[in-house]
Amino acid sequence: MIRPRRNRRTTAIRSMVRETTLCAADFILPLFLHEDAHDTPINSMPGVTRWSLESLVREAGEAHALGIPAVVLFPKIEETLKTQDAAECHNDDGLVPRAIRALKAAHPSLCVITDVALDPYNSDGHDGLVQRDERGELVILNDETVEILCQQALCHARAGADIVAPSDMMDGRVGAIREALDAEGFSDVSILSYTAKYASAFYGPFRGALDSAPKEGDKKTYQMDPGNTREAVRETLLDEAEGADMLMVKPAGIYLDVIAKVRETSTLPVAAYQVSGEYLMIKSASAAGWLDEKAAALESLTAIKRAGASMILTYFAKQAAQWLGQRW
Ligand code: PBG
Repeated sequence: MIRPRRNRRTTAIRSMVRETTLCAADFILPLFLHEDAHDTPINSMPGVTRWSLESLVREAGEAHALGIPAVVLFPKIEETLKTQDAAECHNDDGLVPRAIRALKAAHPSLCVITDVALDPYNSDGHDGLVQRDERGELVILNDETVEILCQQALCHARAGADIVAPSDMMDGRVGAIREALDAEGFSDVSILSYTAKYASAFYGPFRGALDSAPKEGDKKTYQMDPGNTREAVRETLLDEAEGADMLMVKPAGIYLDVIAKVRETSTLPVAAYQVSGEYLMIKSASAAGWLDEKAAALESLTAIKRAGASMILTYFAKQAAQWLGQRW
C-alpha cells in the first residue's frame, strides 16, 4: 500500500523531505529610528523599539551577527521638520543619511536598505505630495512626487545605501529612480520595488510607531485594492521593464496567492513584507496564551517562503534567527 505517512514518520525523515526550510539569510530586519538619545519601546508593537542612532548601530550589529544580511530603515521625523514638500527627505545631514553612514562604517558587510516614500516627512502623512482640487478633494500628485523620490533615493545612495526601496506606489517611479541613480554614477545601487503594496488595514500599528498616518483621506488612490491579483501582474511587468532588481509584495501572510503569482510572472527575486498587523496578531495572541509564539511565527514565515518569497521583511527576524539556530 502507498503510505505518504512513511515520509512523516521521524524528525530525521521529515527534515530530509522538507521542501521549504527557513534560515537567517531569508530575513530583512525593519528598524525604527529617531533623533532622541534614548530608545523608546513602541506601544503598538510589543517587542519593537524606536532606536537612537547609537542603539540602532548596536541592534543592527546583533542582527547581522545572527546571520541576518540586511536591515531596512524607518525614521520618525520630528514634527517641526515635516513640510508640504517633504524637503527633509533629501537632506544629506538628515537622520536617515546619518544612520546609513554610521551603519556602513560599523558593519561594512551589512546590507543597508532604505524606504523611499514621503510619508514620514510630509505634513500630510501621505506617501506623495498633496494638493486640493476645485471640489476640495485631496489629490496625490504623481509626477511631482516622483521627482522628489528621485532626490530622496540619490540622497540615500550618496550616504552609502546598498538598496533603495520605493514604497510609495507612484506610477513610473522605478524607471525614474533607476535613471537618476545611473546618471549620478550609482549604477551599483539596487532597487527593491514595492511592486504590489495593498491599501491594507494591517499597517495600523506601524503608522502609530512613526506618527505617519495620513492626516486626511486614505491611501486607496495609490496603494492597491485588496481584491486584485491581475493588477499585481501588471505592476510586476512594469517594474521589471523599468529596471527593478527585486520585487516586493506587502502584506505577506494574507497575500500568499499574490506572492506566488509575482514569483511565477517574473524571474526577479521576490521579497514579502510581514507587516506590523500580521506581527501584532501573533504577538498579542501569544501574549494572551492563545498561540505558541515560536511555532506560529516560524510557521507564518515558512508559508511566506513556500509561496515564493526568497526575502522576508519581518519584525520577528532576530527572534526567528535565534530560534532557528537552536532548532534541534
Ligand atoms: C509607508 C510604509 C508603510 C509601511 C512601510 N512603509 C505604511 C503605509 O504604507 O502606510 C508599513 C509597514 C508595516 O505595517 O509594518 N511608506
